[in-house]
Amino acid sequence: GLPSLPASEVPSKAKVVWQKFSSQTAFERDMYFYGTFPEDFTWGVSSSAHQIEGGWDADGKGPSIWDNFTHVPGNVNNNDTGDIACDSYNKVEEDIYMLRALGVKNYRFSLSWPRIFPTGRNNSINSYGVAYYNRLIDGLIANNITPIVTLYHWDLPQALQDIGGWESNELIDLFDSFADFCFQTFGDRVKFWITINEPNVISRLGYGNGLFPPNVKEPGSAPYRVAHILLKAHARVYHTYDDKYRASQGGVIALCPFISWAEPKTPSDPRDIEAADRYLQFLVGWFTHPIFKNGDYPEVMKWKVGNRSELQNLPSSRLPVFTAEEREYIRGTADVFCFNTYSAKIVTLSDHRPVAWGLRRVLNWIKEEYGNPPIYIIENGVGKKAKSDIDDNARIFYYKTYIDEALKAYKVDGVNLKGYNAWSLMDNFEWVDGYDPRFGLHQIDFDNPNRPRTPKRSAVYYAEIIRNNGIPLPKEDEFLYGEFPKNFSWSVATAAYQVRKLRWTPEVSVDNLNLGLSIWDKYSHTPLRIGKDATGDVACDSYHRIEEDVEMLKSLKVSHYRFSISWSRVLPDGTTRYINEKGLNYYERLIDALLAANIMPQVTLYHWDLPQALQDVGGWENDTIVQRFKEYAEVLFQRLGDKVKFWITLNEPYNTAYLGRAPYVVGHNLIKAHAEVWHLYNETFRARQGGLISITINSDWAEPRNPHNQEDIEAARRFMQFFLGWFAHPIFKNGDYSEVMKRRIQERSLAQEFTESEKQRIKGTYDYFGLNHYTTVLTYNLNYPKGVNVLLHRGVATVTDRSWLGSGSLWLKVTPFGFRKILRWIKEEYNNPPIYVTENGVSERGAFKFNDTWRMHYYRTYINEALKAVVLDGVNLRGYTAWTLMDNLEWAVGYEEKFGLYYVNFSDPALPRHPRASAKYYSQIINCNGFPDPATGPHPCLEQEPEGAEIALYVLFALSIVGAMGLALFAYKYGKSSKRSHKQSHMELVVNCNISTS
Ligand SMILES: *[C@@H]1O[C@H](CO)[C@@H](O)[C@H](O)[C@H]1NC(C)=O
Repeated sequence: GLPSLPASEVPSKAKVVWQKFSSQTAFERDMYFYGTFPEDFTWGVSSSAHQIEGGWDADGKGPSIWDNFTHVPGNVNNNDTGDIACDSYNKVEEDIYMLRALGVKNYRFSLSWPRIFPTGRNNSINSYGVAYYNRLIDGLIANNITPIVTLYHWDLPQALQDIGGWESNELIDLFDSFADFCFQTFGDRVKFWITINEPNVISRLGYGNGLFPPNVKEPGSAPYRVAHILLKAHARVYHTYDDKYRASQGGVIALCPFISWAEPKTPSDPRDIEAADRYLQFLVGWFTHPIFKNGDYPEVMKWKVGNRSELQNLPSSRLPVFTAEEREYIRGTADVFCFNTYSAKIVTLSDHRPVAWGLRRVLNWIKEEYGNPPIYIIENGVGKKAKSDIDDNARIFYYKTYIDEALKAYKVDGVNLKGYNAWSLMDNFEWVDGYDPRFGLHQIDFDNPNRPRTPKRSAVYYAEIIRNNGIPLPKEDEFLYGEFPKNFSWSVATAAYQVRKLRWTPEVSVDNLNLGLSIWDKYSHTPLRIGKDATGDVACDSYHRIEEDVEMLKSLKVSHYRFSISWSRVLPDGTTRYINEKGLNYYERLIDALLAANIMPQVTLYHWDLPQALQDVGGWENDTIVQRFKEYAEVLFQRLGDKVKFWITLNEPYNTAYLGRAPYVVGHNLIKAHAEVWHLYNETFRARQGGLISITINSDWAEPRNPHNQEDIEAARRFMQFFLGWFAHPIFKNGDYSEVMKRRIQERSLAQEFTESEKQRIKGTYDYFGLNHYTTVLTYNLNYPKGVNVLLHRGVATVTDRSWLGSGSLWLKVTPFGFRKILRWIKEEYNNPPIYVTENGVSERGAFKFNDTWRMHYYRTYINEALKAVVLDGVNLRGYTAWTLMDNLEWAVGYEEKFGLYYVNFSDPALPRHPRASAKYYSQIINCNGFPDPATGPHPCLEQEPEGAEIALYVLFALSIVGAMGLALFAYKYGKSSKRSHKQSHMELVVNCNISTS
């Protein structure tokens, strides 16, 4: 056994785990970690006898308490039984085949006591049962798979229940004699024994809420009495192994409790930490404190139960007392620390995600509380209510995140983790839930008498993790040092009244009587449209702050600045009938100030703020808009074109079109308007002014949800054609929409067709490809009912990978790999055009903090992917633009989602701007024109390192710190539900730490 330890203090010293992790930021907590486990790490899958074997009365097997229980109608969901289950009793070969395919190093299963001793006693040995387990064990050994064998996984012989079950001291001898027989019979080949599976669940569910057989409902006392006997029985079996078998067989033996993590509601409140600590002592310490510490229950448990018993005027504590001899006998009776754990749910107002990070904290708690013993995770998995879930995406995300937390615990925290077993090898009988939910890596068809086994996609994924011995950093994700081409343009963007994904404006729009309203002025002045009724009336007041804005640009060291012109500021009613000279003058002054600072303007003609007067006559649905837009552009080319050499006709036409009543009509007019303005510039102004003009198209990148599923792959292609391709295909390809888009829209009689001459006029109207890009989605095929919405026509549903970092915006996940892929896709799809990234960035929420590590991480990884696109993929990338210069009005959420490199204090009427750490970080990338390799240093461009920020980032990436913050108070929901299996109970947590002291 492991060395014994003194009793835990109250609260225990393991409270350092909360102190360490509860203060970590969500970024540190959720950052994905790459690495591998040590060579001798053991990967496995788990099962248990009653859940898979079937053959409940085959070849002389005696009934177990679960056989009797399930045969009573109404006890189990759907009246399911384990009579046949997966029929593993007859399918040794099939089961071993699955294990081999997974590549597991171990298989954890349990022995059915009544299959071996039908009456529970060793005068009734059933040779068929023994032969079955010999076949299984021999098959495993022959395939190099280590058996991990549980002696007791809940299926007590009914005959022993009839004499009192685990409430009777007789069970100690009887269990020992069963174990002794198993050691003697199988111990030559079995080197890893688990005495009792989840004794804490047996006590609580069998004797507390009475949910499991023997259905005793005495929560105040029976669980403690039964636990007392289970602990003694465990210790007896341990000593038998130690005394009689260890020397010759040389295995390890332990018990296996269930654990779920508890997070203090207010981590800074020591009383909440004490409550969380008490919760774990009552849940786990109950069994592990006697075994791994001093042979006795945790002090806090003795006090609490003792005090309550006294208050209840009981003659003695409901928690039984061990004699000194018994304590001596129990302590040290484990060679390793085994445990099972499932989803913990974080309980806040709306957030019900499974929280993988709880696993890392559980592991750290075990390390701190029990002196860093060797630890084996024996069960971990997720159940889904679905008859068939072969394409089990959610289960993959589950393993992807939970195994990653185990990896962090091992690599970063030094937890002595030795093995990981997934629950479960296959769908099986889930106790009182019957065959629903399903936890398997393999699907079982329970309607088919042959019980065929089919690997789910999670099985393929888990096999890959095993093959890699963890989660190594994929080759394509390795950081690339290097520089961008000479003359690469570095820019930062804003917009006059911009709204992409419901975003913002940095300019004043109500300035003087000459100024016409834009559609966004009207919208934002309609109550209840925008969060907190924010408007862009003042926004960042950039209209009055040219100098301040240019100072920021200079300190960023950008070579370009992208901004947009407010159409209605220049032409108040949208037409050239009246030109607002004062408005135009603002842009002239801005441009002059930029040029004086050697910063090239990149000017967007239309960034969504249509003059309301034009909207009143139909806006983009009225094809006269094409001519209006051309006239507006002509004014700007004439008046500003001598100084502006980079024009963007339209920003993100997709967002103007896709949500409206007539998306394809609007899209059609946008494309024609763009083409006309391009031709105007090309024919009338280019020779004299010599600038570039093109369009900026936004798009997410789409990955098939299942990369091996043809339907998902096609859904991804369709997603790209309906998003980026809608505008790019006509302009950059052949003057017309893509075939897939035309076909699907024609089917719905919504088609807009270009004439041949229009096609000729549209095709090739670009000088570069302007791209706004932020994030990636996973796609799969879904046929929606008919409707006008573009999102329905494309027949694609999207999800995101749960391991992806989030941001301040729900739609924006940090997915740098998608950036490189979309750049490569544009190169291949549109014949390698010059590309300017005209927007890219990330949002945060919450109070101002200088160190916006999240944003630095975003820019670092995204810009690095852009570098890979240039250096490794030959993408013709000419420039990059960060979104955005400063915080601004985030449309529907008001000022809550902050994308700025500069923070703007909107509550101060002076609207002061302050650089965040990311501003300094971005300026350093610009200064270096990329990422110089430290190994070839020193690099003068790196010299003016921003203080704290750079150090924080260095520490972050060098050490891959990971950790967490979360507010939730967990408690195990024993005794709260009427009909739930333990697995479901594992997943339900309530806000109440004072469990089990009733
Ligand atoms: C348990 O089931 C067996 C087999 O059906 C039956 O003989 C026995 O009477 C049952 N025992 C109890 C206590 O229900």
